[in-house]
Amino acid sequence: MIKSYIWTFVNRFLHYFLIASFSLAYLCVYFDALITFHFIFGILFGAGVLLRVIWGFVGTKYSRFSDFEFRGILSYFASILGEKKHYIGHNPASSVAIVLIFVLGLITILSGMLTIGAEEQRGIFGYLFFEYRYFEIFEDLHEFCANALLAVILIHICGSLIDKFWNKNDSIDSMISGYKRTNQEENITLSLTQKVIFGFYLAFLFVLILYLFYPRNVFLRPFEREIFASQDLKEYTKECGSCHIAYASYLLPKSSWDSMMSDLENHFGEDASLEQESQEVIAKFLQQYSSDSVDTKFSSKIAKESDSNKIAITKYHYWEVAHDKIKPALFEMEEIKSKANCQTCHKDAESGIFAKSAIDYAKLKSLKKELQDSKL
Ligand code: HEC
Ligand code: HEC
Repeated sequence: MIKSYIWTFVNRFLHYFLIASFSLAYLCVYFDALITFHFIFGILFGAGVLLRVIWGFVGTKYSRFSDFEFRGILSYFASILGEKKHYIGHNPASSVAIVLIFVLGLITILSGMLTIGAEEQRGIFGYLFFEYRYFEIFEDLHEFCANALLAVILIHICGSLIDKFWNKNDSIDSMISGYKRTNQEENITLSLTQKVIFGFYLAFLFVLILYLFYPRNVFLRPFEREIFASQDLKEYTKECGSCHIAYASYLLPKSSWDSMMSDLENHFGEDASLEQESQEVIAKFLQQYSSDSVDTKFSSKIAKESDSNKIAITKYHYWEVAHDKIKPALFEMEEIKSKANCQTCHKDAESGIFAKSAIDYAKLKSLKKELQDSKL
C-alpha cells in the first residue's frame, strides 16, 4: 500500500468552510443579539454550497459528481461494522450524505431568505413583507430543513468516526492531510484552469464577506415603504412625523386610524389638528394602507383584536405580549421616555421594521444595566 494525494487543498478548504459557516449560523440563532450574524453565516454557507456544487462539475477527479458512488449503499450500511470495501473517493454513504447536504442546504438558504423578506422586510425578498400570509410557511420549512441538515451532518460524522476507529480506515485523516492509502499511485494535481477557478472562489468569498458587513447590502437591507403612494406617504411623514416617528400605517387597523383622525384636537393631550386638505389626504392614506389591507406579520397578529377604542399601538395585546419581557420602568427612563418612542430600541422603526435583527440590543443592555444600578 502507498499513500496518494486525493483531496486537494480546494476540497479541504470547502469542506471546512461549510462546517464552519453552518455551525456558526446554527449557533447564532440562539442569541437574539447575534441574529444578523445568523443571516451572514447562513448566506456564506449558501455561497459555499454553490461553489462546492460547481466544483462537482469542474473539480478534480474524486470531487466530481460523476465519480460519486451510489451503488452498493444498502450493502455498505449492512456491513457498517463488518468488513468493508475501501473506497478511494467518496464511499456510497458519504456520496448520499453530500448530495443530501447540498439539496437541504440550498432549500434552507432559499427558505431563509424568503423568511427574512416576509418577516423582517429585508433583502432580495423584502417586498414579500406585505404578503406575509403566503410566506409564513417558509419559516417552518427553513427550520425543518436546517434540522434535517444537522441530522444528516451528525450521521455523516458518526459514519466517519466508525470508519476511523472501528474499520481503521483513513477517510478522516485524508480530509486533514489530503492523503489516502491506495494500491497504486493515484495522486491528483490541480490543472491551471482549476487553480484559476479556485482563485476566483477565494476572491469571491473575500469580497462577499466584506460586502455582507456593509449594512445596506442587497441580502439584508431594509425594504423601504416607498411602494405605497409615495406622495401621500411624504405628506403623512411631514405632518405626523414631527412630534414622534410617523408610525407605519400597518401598525393599526382602519377603525383605530378612523377614530384617531376624527379627533386630532384631543390627540394624547396635544392638539394635532391639521388643515382640511392634509387631514383628508392622510386619513385616506392611513385607511388605504392600514393593517386591514397590508398583510404583514404585525397586522396578522392584531387583526383579531381590532377595536376603534384602542387608538394606541401600545394598547394592543400583541404589542404588550411582544414586550412583556421589558420592565415598565425601562420605558420611563430618560433615554426612552415612552413606549411610543419605538425608534429608541427599533433602529428601523421609521421604515416600519420591527424585526429582531433591527433591535438595538447593545443599547438595551446598557439601559438595563443603568436601571439596575440606579436601584442599588
Ligand atoms: C403636536 C404633537 C403631535 C402631532 C403633530 C401628532 N402626534 Fe401622535 N402623539 C403625540 C403624543 C404626545 C402621543 C403620545 C405619545 C406617548 O404615549 O408617549 C402621540 C401618540 C400617537 C400614537 C400612539 C402611539 C402609541 O402609544 O402606540 C399614534 C398612532 C399617533 N400618535 C399618530 C399620529 C398621527 C397619525 C398624527 C398625524 C395626523 C400624529 N400622531 C400627530 C403627539 C403628536
Ligand atoms: C425599550 C425598547 C423598546 C421600545 C421603546 C419598543 N420596543 Fe418593540 N421590542 C423591543 C424588544 C427588545 C423586542 C423583542 C422582544 C423579544 O425578544 O421577544 C421587541 C419586539 C417588538 C415586536 C415583535 C417583533 C417580532 O418579530 O417578534 C414588534 C412588532 C415591536 N416590538 C413593535 C414596537 C413598536 C410599534 C413600538 C413603538 C410603538 C415598540 N416596539 C417599542 C423593544 C422595544
